[in-house]
Amino acid sequence: MPVQVIEKAVPVIHEDVDVDVELRKPSAKTWEGLSQMAFAANWDPEKAINWNQSIELGAVRDGWVNILHYFYEGEWQGLEIIERLMNKAAHIYNIPEMVTYYSTQCFDEAKHLYVFRRYLEKLQSPPSKQRAFDPLVWLATSGPMPVERWIFGTFFTETMAGAIFQRTLELPAIDPLGKEMIKWQLKDESRHIAGTKLGVQTMMDHAGPVKTWFLKMWFRLFCQLAVKEVRNLKPYGDQVGMDPEYILRKCFNKMAEMPEFKQKFLDFPLAESFLKTA
Ligand SMILES: [Fe+2]
Ligand SMILES: [Fe+2]
Repeated sequence: MPVQVIEKAVPVIHEDVDVDVELRKPSAKTWEGLSQMAFAANWDPEKAINWNQSIELGAVRDGWVNILHYFYEGEWQGLEIIERLMNKAAHIYNIPEMVTYYSTQCFDEAKHLYVFRRYLEKLQSPPSKQRAFDPLVWLATSGPMPVERWIFGTFFTETMAGAIFQRTLELPAIDPLGKEMIKWQLKDESRHIAGTKLGVQTMMDHAGPVKTWFLKMWFRLFCQLAVKEVRNLKPYGDQVGMDPEYILRKCFNKMAEMPEFKQKFLDFPLAESFLKTA
C-alpha cells in the first residue's frame, strides 16, 4: 500500500506583525472589538442545533407559532434596514469599522432567519408575510435623518428581541428545540444590543440641540407605535405565558441603563410609565 506523505503546514512568521495587535483583547465598546467578538462567537445553525428533536408544543402551539411569525417578519425587516443604511452611517460618522461590524450583524440576522424558517417548516407552518411592521419600518427609514432614526429604532427593537428571547427561555411550555434555537440567537442579540448602544452613543455625540429635539419627538412617536404593536401580541402572549407589559418594562429599563439616553430620550409619560413599574 503506498504511503501517503502528509506535509505539515509550517507556520509563517511575519516579522512585521506587532504582537500586541495579534493579541488584542476584544472590547464591546469599540466597533473593531465587537467585530472580533462576532468572529469568535460564530456558530453553524445546522451543527449547533439538534434538529432531530421532535417538537411537542400541545396547547401553546398556536400562540407560539404566531409570535414566531411576527418575529420572523421583524428580523427580516431589521436585516433589510441594516443593509440599506450601514454604509451611509459609516460615511456620516467617518467610521469605516462600522461597516465591518454591521456586516457581522447582517450575517447573524441571516442565521436567525434561517433557523426560524427551519423551525417553522418543521412545524408545517412556514413564515408568511405579516406586514405588521411595515408602518414602523416606514417611520424608521423615510424622511430626513434616516441613519439616526434607524439607530434609535433598532435600539428599541434589538432590546425588545433580547427581552422576548430571555423570557422564552424561562417558559416551561416551549419545547427544547425551540429553546435551543433561541439560546443561540440570544448570544448574538446581546452583542447586537452592545453594538446598538455604541451606535446610539456615536449618534448622541454628533447631535446638536436641534437634531436632538427632532429625534426626541420622533422617538416618542416611534415608541407609541411600537408599544401598540407589542400589545397586539397579547392574545398569543397569554397562550404561552409571555405578558407584553412585562416585556415592555424589561425593554424600557434596559434602554434606561444608558444614563444620557434616559435623560435625553426617555423623559416622556409612556416611557416613564414602564420605568416606574420596574
Ligand atoms: Fe436577530
Ligand atoms: Fe439582532
